[in-house]
Amino acid sequence: MEIPIKQALALKTLPDAKDLAFGTLFTDHMFNMDYDPDNGWHYPRIEPYGAIPMDPSTMVLHYGQSIFEGLKAFKTPEDRIQLFRPEDNFTRFNRSAHRMCIPLFDEAFALDAAKELIRLDRRWVPSAPGTSLYIRPTIIAMDPFLGVRASYTYRFFIILSPVGAYYKEGFNPVKIWVTEKYVRAVPGGVGEVKTAGNYAASLFAGEEAHHKGYTQVLWLDGVERKYVEEVGSMNIFFVIDDEIITPSLSGSILSGITRDSVMALARKWGHPVTERRITIDEVMAAHEAGKLQECFGSGTAAVISPVGEIKYKDKQIKIGDGKVGSWARKFFDAITDIQYGHAEDTEGWIHPVD
Ligand code: COI
Repeated sequence: MEIPIKQALALKTLPDAKDLAFGTLFTDHMFNMDYDPDNGWHYPRIEPYGAIPMDPSTMVLHYGQSIFEGLKAFKTPEDRIQLFRPEDNFTRFNRSAHRMCIPLFDEAFALDAAKELIRLDRRWVPSAPGTSLYIRPTIIAMDPFLGVRASYTYRFFIILSPVGAYYKEGFNPVKIWVTEKYVRAVPGGVGEVKTAGNYAASLFAGEEAHHKGYTQVLWLDGVERKYVEEVGSMNIFFVIDDEIITPSLSGSILSGITRDSVMALARKWGHPVTERRITIDEVMAAHEAGKLQECFGSGTAAVISPVGEIKYKDKQIKIGDGKVGSWARKFFDAITDIQYGHAEDTEGWIHPVD
């Protein structure tokens, strides 16, 4: 399928790299494509970035049938643009589509569309350390209808956003709060896919965390409320007595691509990550015994984010000496060196754009 391009008449002013936050600015163009049962996915096009006109009854607004992905484009020292494991994002996107009753799309075509869009908006790919172009493919239900069923029509769009660090702390330890009161997802639910409702469901506890002075919520399992799951915007790792541990994919945890990259690197370095169920009590007890060496999160937006403090019930623990741990540093450096083209792509993770 050819992708026609309608260029924006006026281009926006580029931001100063030092002002880049996460997800506040958007480039000049976007990709759009529609679905209806007669034509399948059709009318792919790149056009000026802009609003999507919607009837107030549009299904996505009422029942949240919506999925998204997050991936990044990086500028190399040679001024090339490259993506990190984009095929994995589009494969996961189709898994989310399947679970949310959204028609599957051609993954190779969607990746080509993203690359075409990035090439057109290439002046937006920032080159300052720690910055990148965040890519947000999204699909939303478009039927104007108030009955509860899967929509017949959809819009697939991709928008681009030049970003800096996800957390205001940057690559410095964040503080997380473990909630026993709220849950993010349950087995058999949709916690393992990237659908809007998972994030909406996390907001109330997130607000409480912020009021208490914490950056994020650490979620426990929705049944027993004792097994550690994820942070919502990141998967989580613990280093206890030299063992690197991450919760196994329980069906209610997102299968993170950065999580998988951490595990692949650890395997390659001869120090494999143990994927298993881990209770919050085990984490607190390990701290008590002086064996909790590190905790860090992983995610596309957050990359690797060290955790410096955990609050659970009436206990507040400090991890390590409050500084970035050595494993977090090692994974962060290895992953970002590959992403920015500072190190050889030994794992076949890099996909060139130009
Ligand atoms: C990502 O890491 O790309 C995410 O989707 C997490 C968050 C920004 C919602």
